[in-house]
Amino acid sequence: KIKKKEANILIVGLDNSGKSTVVQYFQTGGKRTEVTVPTIGFKVEKFKNAGLTLTAFDMSGQSKYRSLWERYYSDCHGVIFVIDSSDTIRMAVACNELQLMIQHPEMVKNRSSTAGVPILILANKIDLEMAIPIGQIRAELGLDEIDTHPIHLEASNALTGVGLHAGLQWLSDQII
Ligand code: GTP
Repeated sequence: KIKKKEANILIVGLDNSGKSTVVQYFQTGGKRTEVTVPTIGFKVEKFKNAGLTLTAFDMSGQSKYRSLWERYYSDCHGVIFVIDSSDTIRMAVACNELQLMIQHPEMVKNRSSTAGVPILILANKIDLEMAIPIGQIRAELGLDEIDTHPIHLEASNALTGVGLHAGLQWLSDQII
């Protein structure tokens, strides 16, 4: 694998899954300085973590913006796909978006390896009582059937940071 100090990471997922909260945690180490508002289009944030300088493209999860994600696929080294574990109603929608993404030609082959772009899936909001157990999320997303990309599923709570460092460390290890 090619050694990279800088990496472009796409942060995607349905609206309200917690993408901006994840980015904010990595930037401030958990000190929540502002109230998150729905992302319009996308935000670009730069931060250092897990030995990488990351440029995070925090893409809006609203459906009218989802086609925008694809414009950033060609220049991305890793993806953080955030899922609201408590959103049982839209789990199938999230699954569909994940499948569309991993099957996209730009995503199938990483320029630095023969495998596809590595994808960290955060099963976020795991603290909520209605959260679907992680094993069930793995099954519903069909993760065991995906052999085109390195994929890792991590349970997270973006409010406290649980799971975020472990998840990002995995992604970083795939890129370096
Ligand atoms: P869009 O910009 O609309 O695409 O949303 P987003 O994915 O960026 O979601 P955002 O980070 O704005 O979070 C949505 C809401 O979920 C906010 O009220 C967050 O405080 C809350 N939230 C995020 N992560 C967690 C979590 O792990 N647990 C709980 N309980 N709430 C969370």
